[in-house]
Amino acid sequence: MTQTHKKLFIKTWGCQMNVYDSNRMGDILSSLGYKTVDTPVDADMMILNTCHIREKATDKVFSELGRLRVHKENKEAKGGKMLIAVAGCVAQAEGDFILERAPFVDMVFGPQTYHELPEMILKASGDERVINTEFPTISKFDHLPDVHTIEGASAFLSIQEGCDKFCTFCVVPYTRGGEYSRSEQEVINEARRQVDQGALEIMLLGQNVNAYHGKTADGGTSNLANLIRKISEINGLERIRYSTSHPRDMDDELIAVHGEVQKLMPFLHLPVQSGSDRILEAMNRKHKADVYRDVIAKLRKSRTDIAFSSDYIIGFPGETEQDFEDSMQLARDTGYVSCYSFKYSARPGTPAASIQAALVPDDVASERLQRFQALINEQQAAFNKTCEGKTMPILFDRKGKKDGQITGRSPYSQSVYVNGNDRLIGSIVNVNITEAFDNSLTGNIEILDDETA
Ligand code: SAH
Ligand code: SF4
Ligand code: F3S
Repeated sequence: MTQTHKKLFIKTWGCQMNVYDSNRMGDILSSLGYKTVDTPVDADMMILNTCHIREKATDKVFSELGRLRVHKENKEAKGGKMLIAVAGCVAQAEGDFILERAPFVDMVFGPQTYHELPEMILKASGDERVINTEFPTISKFDHLPDVHTIEGASAFLSIQEGCDKFCTFCVVPYTRGGEYSRSEQEVINEARRQVDQGALEIMLLGQNVNAYHGKTADGGTSNLANLIRKISEINGLERIRYSTSHPRDMDDELIAVHGEVQKLMPFLHLPVQSGSDRILEAMNRKHKADVYRDVIAKLRKSRTDIAFSSDYIIGFPGETEQDFEDSMQLARDTGYVSCYSFKYSARPGTPAASIQAALVPDDVASERLQRFQALINEQQAAFNKTCEGKTMPILFDRKGKKDGQITGRSPYSQSVYVNGNDRLIGSIVNVNITEAFDNSLTGNIEILDDETA
């Protein structure tokens, strides 16, 4: 008897945690006979894993749904059936609205419910529309099957979810719920499985990953520093990263681990959002700009080759030219490898969305954003330039755009393109960097003397 797989199409927006979640949904559904495909045409099930962090998120979901609806109708015209599901943070925030406005959507469910997918699919297959946006009392992590799907040699591993910090601009505490840490053993087991499946690099993920406080085997509480020490002992694992961190949770022990654990990459994404103490306070970030400067200085002392990236919000309500200049100054003082900057976007239901006073006009915010990004582009180009002539270990993870080219990531997550054999994909190889561009590097694979002999 030949087994036919059902086709599953997943489209993912948003942060790395959504990418992790999409992979895990794929794992759950593979145990129900689904196989992921890369086109929605003729799929048996489609999942849109959505993000609600900035504006137009909901509009994007509806326009994508409009496109997918055609595929569903085509399939039904041929007597087939297709389930359409909306998952992720827009589903959590706008679930009822989606079901109301898109009658062809079969399932809507939030980020904490993925372990209930088999039951939800059963219901939806029986022609019942499903909405599930509860925050269950049991954790989804305890009920997900073992990890099967990793992204090549570099794997994402969610160790912590949700957020209790309530920055005034942010939807995450509402869409993901309160902070939750997985137990240390659970994380270590999953890391081992990922390494067994070929991962050389693991990115530990959480909305506030450095607030991690999972249980230890003896009933105590761990922290990120301890977890990193333990994970670094896994044979075959070469690189560890973590994201996203909050400056307030960057304690001395974690800072020290950057100096101790060589597998921990010398690159840290540490979002600050603003360089103005006034704005930081209005954002409820609960620290001053100088605290960030201190943390950066301590990290540099602990690991001399460390470099940074960050997130800044430009045009938060009340931001004056001076506040903006303070953000520019903080970026100048830090000097980034790369940095994301976003124009402030008022999110329904967040405290900042009801601020009426001193709103920054859109054209002013756009102009500031441009100035900020120009500074960051300069910093990025300058950092890339310092890599010329150096030898860097590159984790090759895919083919390049041109024939005979492969591409990978440096310790600083820069994209590196070289001419090389596909066989090197999935390994870490030393590359002599010959030329730096604005967004990438190129070089030659280092030939060791004994190989040429
Ligand atoms: N937990 C992380 C941030 C997660 S959201 C932290 O504390 O830094 C990712 C980024 O999106 C944020 O760092 C912020 O820069 C941006 N962002 C979040 N809400 C936003 C909003 N309402 N408008 C513009 N940018 C926003
Ligand atoms: Fe959002 Fe702030 Fe929590 Fe980050 S720390 S997820 S910005 S509320
Ligand atoms: Fe977006 Fe939700 Fe991640 S809002 S950034 S997908 S936590």
